[in-house]
Amino acid sequence: MSLNPSEFRKAMGSFATGVTIITVDLDGEVHGMTANAFASVSLDPLLVLVCVDANTRTHAHLHAKKRFGINVLCEGQRAISEYYARPDRSHEHAETEAGARFDRTKHGTPMLHGSLAYLECRLHSAEEAGDHTIFIAEVEDVVVREGEPLLFFRGKYREVGEDVGE
Ligand SMILES: Cc1cc2nc3c(=O)[nH]c(=O)nc-3n(C[C@H](O)[C@H](O)[C@H](O)COP(=O)(O)O)c2cc1C
Repeated sequence: MSLNPSEFRKAMGSFATGVTIITVDLDGEVHGMTANAFASVSLDPLLVLVCVDANTRTHAHLHAKKRFGINVLCEGQRAISEYYARPDRSHEHAETEAGARFDRTKHGTPMLHGSLAYLECRLHSAEEAGDHTIFIAEVEDVVVREGEPLLFFRGKYREVGEDVGE
């Protein structure tokens, strides 16, 4: 069987996900990156993972800073997802171009305004896996808000449809 990356991407794209922005403080500037390879790992201790391409700037920042935020986007934040997936973005234009504004947590981590959930993460371990690294982090704090999520399915953004009942 000769499976190519495009078929693999298609299969993985069939798994609908939410969308997050990983945020890191870089000496007062916010570095954010759109990521959907995010999952819960453990309840005791509280661990999550995010898989990050070794060629991204975020990869180096997570190794260096060892602390980051995960911001789960709501349905109105598509422009923010698109902005933080662009390689040419800058800290200065995030608010004017995408409407992204941030508060700082007590650890100085950037927390996105209006996201559905925020997780304050401290790096626990990092495991190289092919061209990505699995960053596992301990969750020290969370903020959860009401609202509907932004979804990503087969390369397109979606919103939650009808409620199918209990
Ligand atoms: C919906 C969506 C999900 C993404 N998920 C990931 C991901 O989980 N891991 C990753 O490494 N890149 C992911 N990307 C790509 C990065 O956002 C993109 O490569 C970004 O420009 C990297 O930024 P950086 O080089 O500043 O770190 C995703 C992009 C989109 C649009």
